[in-house]
Amino acid sequence: MLEADGLRRHFGGVKAVDGVSFTVAEKEIVGVIGPNGSGKSTLMSLLMGNNKVDSGSVGFAGQDVTRTPPHRRVHLGMARTFQETRLFTSIGATANVTLAATETSRGADVDRLAADCLAFVGLHGVGDAAVADLTHLQQRLLMIALALASRPKLVLLDEPAVGTAGDELSHMIEVIRRIPTERDCSVLLIDHNMRLVMDVCQRLVVLDFGQVIACGAPAEVRDDPRVVEAYFGTESA
Ligand SMILES: Nc1ncnc2c1ncn2[C@@H]1O[C@H](COP(=O)(O)OP(=O)(O)O)[C@@H](O)[C@H]1O
Ligand SMILES: [Mg+2]
Repeated sequence: MLEADGLRRHFGGVKAVDGVSFTVAEKEIVGVIGPNGSGKSTLMSLLMGNNKVDSGSVGFAGQDVTRTPPHRRVHLGMARTFQETRLFTSIGATANVTLAATETSRGADVDRLAADCLAFVGLHGVGDAAVADLTHLQQRLLMIALALASRPKLVLLDEPAVGTAGDELSHMIEVIRRIPTERDCSVLLIDHNMRLVMDVCQRLVVLDFGQVIACGAPAEVRDDPRVVEAYFGTESA
């Protein structure tokens, strides 16, 4: 579904993404983890086209999309959420999703699609509440509903669970887990919360200083000495 090959993006002397390759299969959930500043968000922007690659390529559904602009990648079936909450605050919650559906899913019954995406993340009761009146978790879920409104085949989630814990985190985990089976969509989950990625992902890619230092099944990766040093070393520092 997704093929990242040798992706590189430097900012001056900072090697934000420095030769990253990995794949995401159909309906697979792959996690990208790594300490703060390891290049996760930059990688996502390269995959989605919000940022230009210095070198390397992005393949999606068998097509080279390296130079395809973001809105065209959306039409091909890619969607993303952002690490920071990005919603239209001047319109209500449901209107946010309807607007996203209108822009990205031409020909669809947008009201129905919006209601379906809201229900999927557990926000059916939210109606046209103002975005500002939603809880933090509801805002994070609304961003996922927005991404799903384009009926993607791959969704990239940048720290969807940031700021959640306990039951809220469990709800987020449950929603992400259902995406492949119920939305027929692969997931690339970027996070820095080890519990989330261990619970949800079939495979993990670990970044440190813009490079892949480990890749594989969650249990293998967790026990990899380089990961323990790079990831947990930094976490506890
Ligand atoms: N637009 C930018 N200009 C300059 N440096 C950037 C830019 N975006 C990211 N960086 C730098 O690239 C590195 C990786 O950042 P980022 O991708 O946000 O990491 P992560 O998401 O893993 O925390 C950091 O050192 C960050 O300061
Ligand atoms: Mg980030």
